[in-house]
Order: sequence, then C-alpha cells, then structure tokens
Amino acid sequence: MNTPKTAVIPAAGKGTRFLPSTKATPKEMHPLLNVPLIHHCIEELAQAGVEKVIIVSHKSKTGLNKYFEDHLDLKDLLKKDGKTELVNRLESIENFPEVVFSYQEEQLGLAHAIYSAKDEIKKDDFFVLLPDEIFIPSKKEENPSLELLNLFNQTKKSCITLLEVPKEKVSSYGVAKIKETESNSLKVIDVIEKPKIEEAPSNLILPGRYLLSNKILDIISKTKPSKNGEVYLTDSLITLSQTDDLYGHVTKTPRFDGGSVVGFLKANLYKAMQDKNLKSEILELFQRIN
Ligand code: G1P
Repeated sequence: MNTPKTAVIPAAGKGTRFLPSTKATPKEMHPLLNVPLIHHCIEELAQAGVEKVIIVSHKSKTGLNKYFEDHLDLKDLLKKDGKTELVNRLESIENFPEVVFSYQEEQLGLAHAIYSAKDEIKKDDFFVLLPDEIFIPSKKEENPSLELLNLFNQTKKSCITLLEVPKEKVSSYGVAKIKETESNSLKVIDVIEKPKIEEAPSNLILPGRYLLSNKILDIISKTKPSKNGEVYLTDSLITLSQTDDLYGHVTKTPRFDGGSVVGFLKANLYKAMQDKNLKSEILELFQRIN
C-alpha cells in the first residue's frame, strides 16, 4: 500500500433523527459551536496529509456543495474589517487541494456508499471518515485519522480505529475480534455488525475511522447484502482481514455519537468546556438550573 492521500466521507444519509432541522440543513452542516461537522472532518484529514476528499452525498443536500464554494464578497467584507483569522478559517476549506462530490441515490449501506465513489477513488488506498462520529482532541496528536496513519506507517496494511465502550452499548456498532501480535500490534481477525450483547466478541467498536487498501473495492463488489438489503462495510472487512492483514488502533480520543441529539448536545458541551469563557458561562448556567 502507498501512503494514502485520498479520503471518502459518506454523507448521503437523510438525517431522520435530526428532523425537522435536516429538512433544509444537511446533518454534516450542524455546527460544533460555530464550526460545521464537515469542516472538522476536512481539518482532521488535512492533518493526516490527505489531499483529495470525496464526499458521497445526495443531490438534495445542496448546502454541502455550497460550503465549499468561494464566497468572495464575504471575504472582502471580513478583510475590510481586519478579521483575518476568520478569513483564514474560511480559506482553509476553500483552498483544500481537492474536494469532489459523488452521489448515492439510494442508501444501501456504508459499503455501497464507498463503492459509489470508486471512479473518484481510482487505484488509491484511502481513508473513510464518518462525519457523525465526532472526535474532540485536546491536543493535535489525538486526531484519529493521524493515529491511523501512524499505525499504517508501521504496518503498511489496512487499519481501523477501535474504541472501548461499555458492553451494553456494542449492539449499535460493528464490533471487532482482535489478536495481539508478537510486536504488540492488534490484528483484527473478525468483525461483527451490531451483535447481540452476548454474541459480541469484545467491547471494541468501530467508531467510523478506517484506512483501507484499494482491494476493499473489489471485495465490496462481491459482498452480499445483509437481510435488510444493506451492504455492510463490516462484511467486506471480514474478507479483507482473511485475505490481507487488517490492524486496529484503540483510540483514547474523546468521541461522541453525533448522529443522536443527546450525543450531539454532549459533544457541543464538551467542546465548549475547553474554552475558558464558555466554560464559566456553562457552569454558571448549571448552577442556576440545579
Ligand atoms: C455504521 C457501521 C458500523 C459502525 C458505525 C459507526 O453503522 O455499519 O460498523 O460501527 O457506523 O457509527 P450505522 O451507524 O450506519 O448503523
């Protein structure tokens, strides 16, 4: 595998858990404080050396495309007001080397979403980042995509992020079975999608960060849909782990389920508590309502 410079962000979902907001605003545009989730995703990937991002979207989610357009009038205004920091933040997205959109008409599972970007992925190995899995690092090294890149630099093989959760939470996620190698790396030897608690092989879930060999595309094309008609990436990962090595990295970076209202609220509170001024406002509010 070559050092990956490409990433896929699956973002075609309807965001039903956030209706009515998602009727007009794509879930990926919901902000963590004042910065949309999609912006955080691009910054995370940029730090991991990614130069091309493929956003798998739906034609109805035009707000996402708009976010990557150059807004010259707005920047002129900000420059006139001396707000260079804001201009830089906008430009960090507008000037990202390459952002392209591919479209998934029907939501037929995560593997299907990735496969629908195959013409843009070409022969590259690539990252996959699920935007509603929110990671909030307190220092730069805690970037989960960067952690995968570091593991990849040692193994030269596909790697996935793993996260330890309480056993009663495993049934909502892909869950990994792992084996420690002599060099203390973790090899993923099996993955089960949304197992019953008693059937889960561990309490290590897959929280939406993957760095995959291009071989996965061929594997996906041969993966049978599950009973509900969706092609699970998990099922393709099983084949990848059997035919080529797959490694896991257990992240310690704080992570939130941004797909649920409560997870999203917690992520925002956690982020706010990292800011001195916001922290005192929040503590004051909590005192008042207690
Ligand atoms: C998907 C994946 C699952 C992964 C999860 C992370 O599930 O299929 O393996 O653990 O994302 O959020 P979904 O949330 O689409 O049901």
